[in-house]
Amino acid sequence: MATLDIHPIAGALGAEIHGIDLSQALDEKTFSTIQKALHDHLVIFFRDQTITPDQHLAFARRFGDVETHRYAKGLDSHPEVLPVIKEADDRAANFGGIWHSDVAFHAEPPMGQILYALEVPDSGGDTIFVNMYQAYETLSDGMKRMLVGVNGVFTGERSYGPSDSEVTKRQALFSKSMDVKLMNNADDETVHPLIRTHPDTGRKSLFISGIAIRRLEGMTVEESRPILRFLKKHATRPENTCQFRWSKGSIAFWDNRCTQHYALNDYHGHRRVMHRVTIAGDRPA
Ligand code: SIN
Repeated sequence: MATLDIHPIAGALGAEIHGIDLSQALDEKTFSTIQKALHDHLVIFFRDQTITPDQHLAFARRFGDVETHRYAKGLDSHPEVLPVIKEADDRAANFGGIWHSDVAFHAEPPMGQILYALEVPDSGGDTIFVNMYQAYETLSDGMKRMLVGVNGVFTGERSYGPSDSEVTKRQALFSKSMDVKLMNNADDETVHPLIRTHPDTGRKSLFISGIAIRRLEGMTVEESRPILRFLKKHATRPENTCQFRWSKGSIAFWDNRCTQHYALNDYHGHRRVMHRVTIAGDRPA
């Protein structure tokens, strides 16, 4: 069994794990240690790894079924491995450059993502994560009471929608670096509880993926806006976050059920290439 060193990188969430080679199969004890670290720290990081797409998938499959991205094209050889690329000459939006929990508008959003860095800029291109348990726990008792039983209405419109909204136009530009198709059902609404309970830890978190939540159920967009604006601002306070500085061979594994993340787009003129594998989740409850 590998002896793992686990070092938190911030007060709110995030830990680096050293002493493991993820190209190798995990024994049960190591698997349990990593799973516990994910539950404790919400996003875990590994350094100096060299993994093939098959090894990436094998690691992910220890934690659940893997999913193919429905709108962005995976590798020809391994469709479940999504290349997340921004070319040096691409000055448009990057993939994931906004606060979000991945595809929160799906009926069963992912349990987690494993992102592997193949090529990163010398500076910039960090990813920021936020602890959505803490976002919930630091609300006032009055606000927590008010949100009991409230559902959010989610759509894919602003990420992958064919509408002419500003965000969609901006997002469409990243097709230069990535092969992203638009959804023909992007306006379909999915309803999820605003406060969800993690199926493994039993902890409650705020579920308000920044880009996908359109309004609160039973309210208009206009009525919902001030509440959602407050919750988004409250959730993403710097004290609730950690920021990860990538290097080639780094891996981030985040629990998509209790975090949001934001890929910084501050490295124009430099290439950034990652491979991402998605682990299937279940319906938020
Ligand atoms: C994503 O949102 O999955 C991309 C994150 C990143 O590239 O840092």
